[in-house]
Parts: sequence; C-alpha cells; structure tokens
Amino acid sequence: GWEAKLQLVQRHVRAFPDFPKKGILFRDICPILKDAAALKAVIDLFEEHVRNNLQHVDLIVGLDARGFLFGPLLAQRLGVGFVLVRKKGKLPGATVSVSYDLEYGKAEAEIQEDAVAPGQRVLLVDDLLATGGTLHAAAELMRKQQAEVLGCMVVIELKELNGIDKLKPHRVFSLLQY
Ligand code: PRP
Ligand code: ADE
Repeated sequence: GWEAKLQLVQRHVRAFPDFPKKGILFRDICPILKDAAALKAVIDLFEEHVRNNLQHVDLIVGLDARGFLFGPLLAQRLGVGFVLVRKKGKLPGATVSVSYDLEYGKAEAEIQEDAVAPGQRVLLVDDLLATGGTLHAAAELMRKQQAEVLGCMVVIELKELNGIDKLKPHRVFSLLQY
C-alpha cells in the first residue's frame, strides 16, 4: 500500500550536515537509486498521484541533474515523453534561459526552444524542493514557451524554506517533508 511504499522511500534518504556548505543539511537520495524496490516505490507513488489528480499530461519536464533520475522513469510509466531543463551551456541549438538562486548558490536554467509547444500540458519533476528557485526557473521557462504547468513533483520538500510559496500558483506534490 501507499504507506508501506512511503516508508520504504523514507528509509532510503540520508542526511549529511554541512554539505556542500556549512549550515546546509544535505538530503541524499542516492540510496533510493541503489535499491530497486525503493526506486520503484517512488515511481509507483508518483504515477498513482498523477493518475488520481491530473488529467492528460503531454510531457514530463525534468530538472538538471537529479530530476533526470526520476523524470524519465515516470514519463515511461505514463507513456509520455521527457524534456530536459539543463544548467546553462549544455544544450545545442536555439535555447531559452533564465537565471535563479538556490539554497546554496546561483545558476542558470535552459531548455531548447523547440522542447515544448504552446499549450502543451507539462509536469515538472525534481528530487527535492528547497527554496523553490530551481522549479520556479523551470516554470518561468515553460511560461516563456507558453506551455501549461500542471504542477511540480518532488521526492523531498524542505518545508522551512517555503519553496511552496515561491511556486504559487503552481501546486507541489512531495512524498517526504522535512
Ligand atoms: C538541487 C536539487 C534541486 C535544487 C533545489 O540541485 O536537486 O534541483 O537543488 O534547490 P532550490 O529549491 O533551492 O532551487 P543542484 O542545483 O544542487 O544541482 P544537481 O541536481 O546538479 O546536484
Ligand atoms: N538542494 C538544495 N538544498 C538541498 C539539500 N538540503 N539537500 C539536498 N539537495 C538540496
């Protein structure tokens, strides 16, 4: 059931103090990837949420780099395609970019100009929501390309950083909250 899967996922998240900077408690999802059942549980829970709550998803949009670990698996389950939002300078051809702040630094997010078409219904996927800077930047890229953001999905939400407020009016679904 839902609860057993959530607990399995929870048991495969580790916390490292002062990484990558002093004062940051880093939530490490690598053990989830290393355990086939835990990774399957994440995708099962994501899929169930989408099927119960969202109508017609055209594309999954995943965020560099850890959104790439979960996004394509979910996209395959749903039978839809996957689009990459990358850190600046990694994508060939015409691109659109936006700069943003994150919990421990600054970055620039980029998509290929033809990655999404106007009116397409997309779901944003990442491993973790901290300040919301990264997902907000992805939503901004979708706005620029006139795609419709159905919501954001993450494995982990860090509640004290209020990323949810930054992402309004977009809805955020998370499996674990700290
Ligand atoms: C981490 C994490 C999220 C983002 C969350 O990625 O994977 O994408 O930070 O922080 P925010 O909500 O404050 O924006 P990071 O930029 O460290 O890159 P990585 O995935 O390449 O490790
Ligand atoms: N990305 C931003 N903040 C993070 C944290 N505390 N742990 C893991 N990834 C993060």
